[in-house]
Amino acid sequence: MIRIAVLPGDGIGPEVCSQAVKVLRHVCKGFSFTEAAVGGAALDSCGLPLPSETLKLCKESDSILLGAVGGPKWNAAPPHLRPEQAILQLRKELNIYANLRPIVSYPMSKDSSPLKPGIVEKGIDILIVRELNGGIYFGPKSRERTSTGYLASDTEIYSTDEIERIAHAAFGIAKKRTRKVTSVDKANVLESSRLWRETVEKISLQYPEIDLEHMYIDNCAMQLILNPSRFDVILTNNMFGDILSDEASVITGSIGMMPSASIGGQSFGLYEPIHGSAPDIAGQNKANPIAAILSAAMMLRLSFNMYREANAIENAVEKALNMGYRTSDIMSSGCKEVGTSEMGELIIAGISC
Ligand code: IPM
Ligand code: MG
Repeated sequence: MIRIAVLPGDGIGPEVCSQAVKVLRHVCKGFSFTEAAVGGAALDSCGLPLPSETLKLCKESDSILLGAVGGPKWNAAPPHLRPEQAILQLRKELNIYANLRPIVSYPMSKDSSPLKPGIVEKGIDILIVRELNGGIYFGPKSRERTSTGYLASDTEIYSTDEIERIAHAAFGIAKKRTRKVTSVDKANVLESSRLWRETVEKISLQYPEIDLEHMYIDNCAMQLILNPSRFDVILTNNMFGDILSDEASVITGSIGMMPSASIGGQSFGLYEPIHGSAPDIAGQNKANPIAAILSAAMMLRLSFNMYREANAIENAVEKALNMGYRTSDIMSSGCKEVGTSEMGELIIAGISC
């Protein structure tokens, strides 16, 4: 049995996770699923965003499927007890340092995306490779009183080793794609970015077949919207990757379409939609389950080498969209609006493998 830890979390997390589990059960009988609390739900039940039993379960599992964490209910929690801490701790404890976020345009994207159809219709297939274990997320933080208020700091910090391993991950992946890597930094201002750029440049010598370019983050944020089809693999740090991936989601039409994988050199991985907990629509059968279902497909491919099943799921998603089925976030005129569980059923009905 392949053991999957399921961490549904908060808001729409449980609804979208249950659709992804339904799809996984459909394509493979060899999985066992064990649920555990995480995020705000865990704070409510055990007083901690990542209880030790949840971490233990994750460590004993072959992969993790996560829904979403956070919500206004826990906004006043002290920093170390915020629901988001659960994800950060998991990433660190499990040493999953490479976050892969594909941005792919679908035929429906031209109607759902706020970008001009001409930009989206060119066909977009970008993979953001985001460093996940370092940078400003994990550098020293401080807050001290001053005579007029407070002084607070967060530190952007990277070691050569951390940059090298994420660069290897990006170049390795690029070899199987169109062989182009855009490394994004702020080397005109930040010392950590200068080390980033030098290190990426050095590692690139081991991958002569890859075409490497460097781009400043501010310019990249603009190019991503002006001309997204120019990008293939985008390699960047923790913070820039967080921001660019939300920006990139508008290209596809909705953040509800975007899956992600967090891996760390072995087959083990954490798979989650990049959207948040969307508390405003939670529990109403309105959430788009596609990001969670596509995250499950990434799990099959990256953790278990189940390419046939992963492709079948991705094809079934396209089939449901081509038949005109839409959740409310991607609804456009002439299409049929369906709820979370109906979309899950439609995708299952379209799976052939
Ligand atoms: C993401 C999220 C997380 C992050 C939060 C929830 C900690 O925004 O995965 O993109 O900032 O990495
Ligand atoms: Mg984010």
